[in-house]
Amino acid sequence: MSAFPKTRLRRLRRTDRLRGLVRETRLDLDDFVMPLFVGPESLTNPELPAMGRFSVDDVLSEADVLAGLGVRAALLFGIPEEKDEEASGAYDDDGIIQAALRALRGRHPELLLLTDVCLCEYTSHGHCGVIRDGEVANDESLDLIARTAVSHAEAGADAVCPSDMMDGRVGAVREALDDAGFEQIPIVSYAAKYASAFYGPFREAAESAPAFGDRRGYQMDAANVREAARELSLDVAEGADALIVKPALPYLDVIRAARERFDLPIAAYNVSGEYAMVKAAAGRGWMEERAAALESLTAIKRAGADFVVSYWTKELAGWL
Ligand code: PBG
Repeated sequence: MSAFPKTRLRRLRRTDRLRGLVRETRLDLDDFVMPLFVGPESLTNPELPAMGRFSVDDVLSEADVLAGLGVRAALLFGIPEEKDEEASGAYDDDGIIQAALRALRGRHPELLLLTDVCLCEYTSHGHCGVIRDGEVANDESLDLIARTAVSHAEAGADAVCPSDMMDGRVGAVREALDDAGFEQIPIVSYAAKYASAFYGPFREAAESAPAFGDRRGYQMDAANVREAARELSLDVAEGADALIVKPALPYLDVIRAARERFDLPIAAYNVSGEYAMVKAAAGRGWMEERAAALESLTAIKRAGADFVVSYWTKELAGWL
């Protein structure tokens, strides 16, 4: 191996063309999914524009804009008119997501519609399952989560994304989908979802902060990566078609471990707090948003993500 001065790594960095030639990771809009919040009324969010909310009518116009920009996929979250103990808005045939899906499906057959399958936006207490004796009851929640997934498929979802972190949910969702004749609907499971401080802006947007306690009894501990491998393997065994690691930037090692260990598509969720940090810093003139966003998204892909859920997807469409 000849070293300096024969070897000069700067040679390939000299011009934009040379850097482009040897670039290892590229961003392609096909690999990005835009989260969309649907609620009874539209609500703009001037500071965090991607975290605004759309009525069913307005989500149609937003989908027109996204499709026009070349965005291929959206991940839908619903904020129901009313919440209750049993999250009935989640699996109501006339629920907010079901209505949005029917409207979008008719107008945009080519836009991939993924849905977040969880109870937390629909429960009055904000937990991802039903409460029995002061605890989130795993097995009883599974039935409701599975019902929710089936109702999304019936309303036109292209794929469902269980994000509740109950044990056995992927198997329960697979079985319920198959029983209802939806063998072809993929499950993109939030397989390694950590209990994270980076979900703050989302919980505000979705009004889903837990009314008591926190989510550490079901979401993963930030300190663990071997346990993530167990979560991922279980979801694979239960029939997941693709696996999500969430959040993304503080968990690049988990994305890398998932990539090396599994042959399924691996996704990463670049969550609300990751987006908000850059927005806030950019707002103060501390960094340039576009450069910081592109660097973040490139790092997530470099770590091994095949596709990324990101609040920058819409802006990215303009940047690329
Ligand atoms: C639902 C859900 C959450 C997020 C996605 N699905 C919130 C949570 O688990 O508290 C967070 C997304 C984000 O922060 O962008 N369980």
